[in-house]
Parts: sequence; C-alpha cells; structure tokens
Amino acid sequence: MSATFPFTTPRSLDNEPEAQELLARRGPVVPATMGPIRIWLALSYAACKQVLTDPRFSREEATRPGGPVTVPSGANPLVLTSMEGRRHARTRKLVASAFSPRMVATLEPRVQAIVDDLLDARPTDLVAGLCVPLPTMVICELLGAPYSDAPDIRRWTGRLMTSVLTPEELREAENDMQGYLADLVEEKRLRPDDKLITALVLAHDEGGHLTSAELLANLQLLLAAGHDTTVNQLGNSLLTLIRHPSEMQKLVDNPSLIDTAVDELLRFSRLMAATLPRVTTEAVELDGVQLEKGAAVLPIIAAANRDPKVFPDPDQLDLARDNAAPLAMGFGPHYCLGAQLAKLELRIALTSVLKRFPGLKLAVDEEELEYRMETNVRALVSMPVTY
Ligand code: HEM
Repeated sequence: MSATFPFTTPRSLDNEPEAQELLARRGPVVPATMGPIRIWLALSYAACKQVLTDPRFSREEATRPGGPVTVPSGANPLVLTSMEGRRHARTRKLVASAFSPRMVATLEPRVQAIVDDLLDARPTDLVAGLCVPLPTMVICELLGAPYSDAPDIRRWTGRLMTSVLTPEELREAENDMQGYLADLVEEKRLRPDDKLITALVLAHDEGGHLTSAELLANLQLLLAAGHDTTVNQLGNSLLTLIRHPSEMQKLVDNPSLIDTAVDELLRFSRLMAATLPRVTTEAVELDGVQLEKGAAVLPIIAAANRDPKVFPDPDQLDLARDNAAPLAMGFGPHYCLGAQLAKLELRIALTSVLKRFPGLKLAVDEEELEYRMETNVRALVSMPVTY
C-alpha cells in the first residue's frame, strides 16, 4: 500500500510515529502520494542528508509549474530556497553578506534585554508572553522595521505560512507583505541605517545588486520564515522540557548544557515533518533505492532525526547528547541562514526561563493545549503555565 503525505500525526506529539514506522518496516526511501502527486519519502538520516546535499536533487526543478509544493509561498522562484547552483550561491552570498555573524553577535545583549523584560511581567501564557514577542521583536530589530508594525507582520506571516492557499489568496498575501516591504526599502534608501534591509539594499558583487524583485522576495522569506519558525520551536522546546521534568532539572542544575540541549530539542521536538521537496535532475540511487530522472522527493527530517542508526535510543530525550547534527535546520547549501540567530534566541530564552522559574509547570491539563491547524508547522496557540 502506498504511503500518503501529510501524515495524520496528532499535533501534540513530539515525534512522527507514522514516518518512524515506515522507516523501520519499509526502509529508508518509500513511495507515497501527496494529493495528486507521486513523491518519494526520504526517511533515513543518510537519505535526507543526501537529498539536502547532492546537487542532483534540485529545489529549482521542484518550483516549476506542476512540481511538488508543501507550502504555496515557498514555491516563489525568486527566493533563495527555490534556487540551485551558481544562481543560489551568488544570491546566498549577497544575503549572507548583509546578515553577517557579526550582526547577529551584536544582537546578543539586546536579545537578553528583551527576554528579561518579557519575563519581568511573569507571563501566565508563555506563547503570548514570550514565544511570539521575542522572535518578532528580534526580527524587527534585525531588519530595522519598527516594532509597532509587528501585529501586521504576524498577520501576513500567518497567511503566508498557511499550507492550503488558493493562487488568489497567495497573491493577495504576497502583495500585502511586499507592499509593506517596498515602502520600508524606499525609506532605507532615503535614510540608511546599520540594519539588515539597508545592508541588503547596498549588497552587491561583480554582477551588481539584487534586483528589486529578488530583494523583496528574499526579505519576505527572512521576515516570515525567519521568525515564525523560532516562535514555534521555542514553544515546542518549552513544552518538551515540561514533559520531561528530570531532563529539565538537569538543565536547571547545569546551565552549561544549553548548547547540546538546544540541538537535542531541535532533534526531538518536531517542528515540521518535512523540509522542502526536491526533484531529481537525473537518475540517481538514494540510500539503496533507484530513482528515475524527474522524481519528486520529500526529506522527512522528523524521521531522520529519530533514525536509530545515527541517534542511539532516538525516542529518549537526552539534553547532553552530542553525537550528531539534527537535520531540523537542514544541511548543505540551503542550511538555515538564520540558524545562528535562532539558536541564540533559544539559548537565551530557555536559560533565562529556567533560571527564574525552575518549578515551571503547565497550568492546564496537557490535553487542553491547542495547536494551529492551518499550517504544517507544529504551533501551540497558547501555553498557560505556573511557576
Ligand atoms: C528554530 C528556528 C528555525 C528553523 C527550525 C529553521 C529551519 C530551516 C530549514 C529546515 C531550512 C532548510 C530548507 C531546505 O533546505 O529545505 C532553512 C533555511 C532557511 N532559513 Fe531557517 N529556520 C529557523 C530560523 C530561521 C531564522 C531566524 C531565519 C532568518 C532570520 C531563517 C532564514 C532561513 C533562510 C533564508 C533559509 C534559506 C537558505 C537557503 O535556501 O540557502 N531561518 N531554515
């Protein structure tokens, strides 16, 4: 029987049992249907890593009309995630030059100050009181957008991250976000600052600047994908810690575990089942399975992150685990450009919450927690807590 994607896993689960079961019983690469499309599911760590690094698995091919799409806004051919080869390398270098490690490092004291302010208010709902405002304030700060625009940014992002959108709804959502960004770019041209939009406007190489359309599309990617993921990963990480009191206590007692803890939470606490689909540019063997040219392939990173060949006792949360890199932020040429920033936020937020509130608990029964259903990302609506 052919497998189907998306899986029907309850949102409350940290893992993706259907995919782990497929990997255990049917092997590392399994044929499936995704709506009308036939697609191969890459389930093992080795298969996912190959799909993410081998240039014969192309994002560009996947964004052609009729290609496999998991998030409609992700199929825009002008964004980094839709490019391959030299075009991707050039655009990524330009975006990365504006989004430098130095720029991220200078944000550290600001991230700590934002977290301290938010926690001073002793939020009774950690989603509304910490997980949403922190990454939203940080992305505004990074780009140089006023924080008073945050409610609009959250609303547009919500629409862009929706997994089922008609072409008209998508166009409308992109027009709203890009209209806003175009005004912001214009303002930065007139009044440059030391933030990311200005840096991206000025960024150039021997081929010149990004075109206006490339600039707007990639700013939209940075703004939307770059904060919604962190919002939800922070919420899921806190919930996973609350569900594993002895591991949480380990981190309370030994805060220096925070770096491996952030990685282990990225591995264990599923944010999304899959990252973006690819299409093969020639016949290729994937972890022992022969694929034809033009085959659609979906890297199921949630299964790879529980692959027992790479992670001993994969269903065990072990905040001191340091044996391999989880694929939660991708791998290879498209590896998350915001990884350093996201990890900085996760590190500071989790450390500060546990330092102030070591007795953190849910204030409701777990079954009462609600998740947003319109997105592929596992997203808590709220997290009522007591200290
Ligand atoms: C916990 C938070 C985050 C997670 C789990 C995450 C996850 C990912 C994943 C899985 C990819 C690879 C996509 C693929 O190859 O299929 C990716 C790429 C990307 N991420 Fe993140 N991300 C996070 C935070 C951020 C932040 C904060 C930013 C920016 C401010 C960001 C910007 C990007 C960009 C621009 C790419 C595309 C890179 C390229 O195609 O070359 N992400 N992210």
